[in-house]
Amino acid sequence: MKTLKLSASRPQDVRRAAALLKKGRLVAFATETVYGLGADALDARAALGIFRAKKRPTFDPLIVHVSSMKQFEAVTKNVPSLAMKLAARFWPGGLTLVVPKADRVPDVVTAGLSTVAVRMPAHPCANALLAAFGGPVAAPSANRFGYTSPTKAQDVLDDLDGAIDAVLDGGSCGIGIESTIVWPTATEIVLLRHGAVTVEQLSKIAKVRVRNHRPGEVLSPGGLPTHYAPRTPMALLPADVTGELNRFGRMALGRRLKLGVLLFKERPIRSPHVKAVWVLSRKGKPEEAAANLFHAIRNLDKMSLDAILAAPVPAKGIGLAIADRLEKAASGLRAGNAFYETLLHKKA
Ligand code: TXA
Ligand code: MG
Repeated sequence: MKTLKLSASRPQDVRRAAALLKKGRLVAFATETVYGLGADALDARAALGIFRAKKRPTFDPLIVHVSSMKQFEAVTKNVPSLAMKLAARFWPGGLTLVVPKADRVPDVVTAGLSTVAVRMPAHPCANALLAAFGGPVAAPSANRFGYTSPTKAQDVLDDLDGAIDAVLDGGSCGIGIESTIVWPTATEIVLLRHGAVTVEQLSKIAKVRVRNHRPGEVLSPGGLPTHYAPRTPMALLPADVTGELNRFGRMALGRRLKLGVLLFKERPIRSPHVKAVWVLSRKGKPEEAAANLFHAIRNLDKMSLDAILAAPVPAKGIGLAIADRLEKAASGLRAGNAFYETLLHKKA
């Protein structure tokens, strides 16, 4: 299949993208969080196509994107008042609400769950496409399953060129990290995934309970322990970045290992093994770091490095979402002897 490259700044391209969705085809588009891979949310066959293109297991449900509260009501039922309050406060924007689903939403979209995840995006590209299409659009992030999320049209093409019908280029995403996913109950906000909207912001509306992933549980598969992962082995550095790199240097003395280091903010790195340093935000601004995160990982992944080591990020605000993505991209691995042994063994 040939993937059409369309531009959100050309009205005829937006119409063409919407026409493809109406025919049950797949169109990737920019949102303010990450690029989504869209299909008609009420067409089970179209939605199934998303799973095929991404090689995503069908147990992992999709997020439904709406452009109005009328559309929200059409895909849900018995919405708790706390959910309505959250929608009023954070929509359009980076918050996804998990609420009971209306019967018309196909089971394939929700992976058989009785709930549906819904979000009203704020990016002009997503808005233009939703308006032209006129209905709800199911869209997970537009990457191959398990790989780093896309924040530029080219990232989408790197993963899915030839596997989807079109990409509607809307430029960069802005926030650069996925939406926060919450499940509002009668009394509290259960947080299923850290993201664009912070715990601090949510706490102003109601009590927030962070639901940690339990092994074997598939409540929100974005909660799987490995996700957003580059092909290059990745591990997390401790706060003492310099000390750890020195330790690595002594251990790997005389060995040809090429490291990439992902830094939250600018700092001097002197290590003969470090071939690439990527700074997420020169001055250490969490929002800027979030916006650069996935593109940085994708770029480091293209450099034929033996490993990527990521420095820690302050654990507050959107930093919690960045830390969560780093943890999963690294499959929870820590920089240290066991990780280095594996690298050296591979080289030997
Ligand atoms: O920012 C975003 O949320 C982006 C843009 C495109 O909107 N989308 C996104 O989708 O990140 P995806 O598929 O990569 O992540 C969606 C997550 C998955 O982890 C899925 O398991 C969870 O949402 N999810 C979907 N429906 C759910 C439900 N009914 N209950 C719990 N989790 C659900
Ligand atoms: Mg994803």
